[in-house]
Amino acid sequence: MTRILVTGATGTVGATVVQALQARGADVRAFVRDPAAAAAKLGDVDLAPGDFDDPASLRRALAGVGRVYLSAADGPRKVAHETAVIDAAAGAGVELIVKLSSMHADPASALPAFRWHGEVEAHLRRSDVPAVLLRPAFFMTNLLMVAGGVAHTGLLHAPTAGRRIAMIDIRDVAEVAAAVLLAEGHAGRTYDLTGPSAITFADVAAALAGATGHPVRSVDLTEEQARPRFEGAGLPDWLATHLAGVFGVIRAGGFEHATGEVLRITGRPARDITGFAHDFAAAFAPPAVPAGTARTGSAAGQQRPERSEVDVEVLG
Ligand SMILES: NC(=O)c1ccc[n+]([C@@H]2O[C@H](COP(=O)([O-])OP(=O)(O)OC[C@H]3O[C@@H](n4cnc5c(N)ncnc54)[C@H](OP(=O)(O)O)[C@@H]3O)[C@@H](O)[C@H]2O)c1
Repeated sequence: MTRILVTGATGTVGATVVQALQARGADVRAFVRDPAAAAAKLGDVDLAPGDFDDPASLRRALAGVGRVYLSAADGPRKVAHETAVIDAAAGAGVELIVKLSSMHADPASALPAFRWHGEVEAHLRRSDVPAVLLRPAFFMTNLLMVAGGVAHTGLLHAPTAGRRIAMIDIRDVAEVAAAVLLAEGHAGRTYDLTGPSAITFADVAAALAGATGHPVRSVDLTEEQARPRFEGAGLPDWLATHLAGVFGVIRAGGFEHATGEVLRITGRPARDITGFAHDFAAAFAPPAVPAGTARTGSAAGQQRPERSEVDVEVLG
């Protein structure tokens, strides 16, 4: 059986890829910085300790490996980290790399993460290693960044100009990655991955209301109203720039096309927002209020506990 090395294995998507591969009985090795933390998160899996900045650790991890899932954290070191894996994999004779990229990946992009993905894709094309590029749309899990705000106010702010987004559940990204890593015939392909249909933030609010049993209202912000919220959220500059830019792409309709690739590749329909809202309802539901505690009304008309903390409302 071909051994598969999963990099970024403790990441949000990476850990789900490990699970999806294990569920299919694959021979999985996880490349991790902190084996104790990784074991606690991933359970019983072969761990290869190392760091993208340590080429010898990459060479050790790749011994006996046939295929690689490639994903490092976004940030200024991303290109160096992912190209180090590609170069080590080429040296080790790896037969396939499946790279987690992004829709709109482009080395000329003004959006940092899209640019970094584009640069890594270009490096991968120049290497001798057969590869598959997975380019997902906006993740549904991004909504968790504003879950605290929704829970406390019943309001979902975002500068989308009412445009639709074919947002995807990361569990489907992981299912596609696992399917591609375990099958033949995908090398050289690029897959744009989306949810089953394009939806508005009003649709998201309706799904969250249905799942939590509490009113949730979507409030569209202008670009000018949203900018200080991104800049004031305490994020690294590149991330604030990237997130603000992503909403610019959304307002330009850049995420409105649903592709159907999840169904074609996995044989199962992509998860929709209703299922996501159901599975993550607890994060968006108002916190329980101890008896006798004062309540304040929200703009949505729902009685909610007074806000006790400042949430990072990245999306608005
Ligand atoms: N959000 C979206 O809407 C969206 C859409 C499309 C594509 N994407 C892409 O999805 C990707 C995110 O994937 P993810 O959620 O799985 O990533 P993640 O949660 O950010 O995880 C990053 C992983 O990289 C590991 N790592 C960081 N530095 C390392 C180092 N020096 N050596 C070894 N490992 C290191 C981390 O390990 P530790 O646990 O040790 O930190 C972690 O396992 C990004 O590339 C993003 O651009 C996102």
